[in-house]
Amino acid sequence: MIKEVSNMWKARTWMKTNVPFLYSWHAYVGFELGLFEAFKRPVRVGDVADAYQLETDLLEQWVEVGLSLKHLKRDAKGRVQIARAWKLPGSKKDSPSSGDLLKEMMELHIPSLLSYPELMTEKKRHHFDSEKHGSTVAKTSTLLELLAFHLINRNVKKHHVSSILDIGCGEAGYLIKLSKKHPDVKLTGIEINREVAESAEKATRDYENIQIVHEDIHQYTPDQNYSYVMVNNLLHYIDPDKREHFFSRLNEITEDQGIITIISPLQKAKHGQQFSSAFNSFFMTFDNLYPIPSEEELNLIAEKTGFRSEKPVPIIREGGWFITKWQKVSSV
Ligand SMILES: C[S@@+](CC[C@H](N)C(=O)[O-])C[C@H]1O[C@@H](n2cnc3c(N)ncnc32)[C@H](O)[C@@H]1O
Repeated sequence: MIKEVSNMWKARTWMKTNVPFLYSWHAYVGFELGLFEAFKRPVRVGDVADAYQLETDLLEQWVEVGLSLKHLKRDAKGRVQIARAWKLPGSKKDSPSSGDLLKEMMELHIPSLLSYPELMTEKKRHHFDSEKHGSTVAKTSTLLELLAFHLINRNVKKHHVSSILDIGCGEAGYLIKLSKKHPDVKLTGIEINREVAESAEKATRDYENIQIVHEDIHQYTPDQNYSYVMVNNLLHYIDPDKREHFFSRLNEITEDQGIITIISPLQKAKHGQQFSSAFNSFFMTFDNLYPIPSEEELNLIAEKTGFRSEKPVPIIREGGWFITKWQKVSSV
């Protein structure tokens, strides 16, 4: 009897623990199908089902969940409308938005984490399809820009930077912001993903001081050295065994006293361990993505590759996300 009661309590606790998932699921479905746009004004569910060609019963059920979560409200005439719009993801047209992050979590992170039992028993990993997911991942990274940009901009001013290399520049968000503030600084972005590089090229067309190179950084030979190299949200693409070699090459293309900044979640950091361990668990399900570094690992590599490392500065404390600055002190 005691065991049964205990089981019931545990089950109840796990069910309660899972409630936040319902909010994310509901918001994801709404974002993916544009339903928050559809219900922007009071409207009948059947009309939305017709207009969007959706299965009515499932849409009704999604609406029921939305009403219980207070994402939606129903008026006296039975019409449904969004509630608490400030909390809901925007439309896909306004991308990047919090909806892109939901999409990445729901379509990539959760399925990967759920495959742990299979991966462990079959001793295998998935392969990360950069062509397929590259653009979603590049979009979600840009959400960090808002918090990280002022730290990067401060470095540009402090170190009198004249040229910047952004490795894995994504859709060139940092480069565009930098170009607006520093039209005289030479800005180069390297991006391996064709679709993402094309978006970056298109977005930077009107900025004369930005050049986008569609290339793998491991194959890239620049025609000059840079005073600032940015490694933003890239290290999980680089095998830890190859990171020392990677930074040795960066040493070769960084000017004397030049700087590098590394943005990454850090393992075993004082803050945000739950988030960084979740990210790490996700990365580790792929044979071509790698664990995020720890502060100790970065310090060790900096020392071996001719850089002096400063203490990592949190960008999102609870997310375990940091920016770490290195300065070149010797050649390797
Ligand atoms: C997570 S995104 C980060 C984008 C941007 N740096 C930011 O922080 O917003 C990482 C980007 O690096 C690119 N990338 C990965 N490996 C690369 C490589 N070897 N050479 C160049 N780009 C690479 C990916 O295609 C992706 O667009």
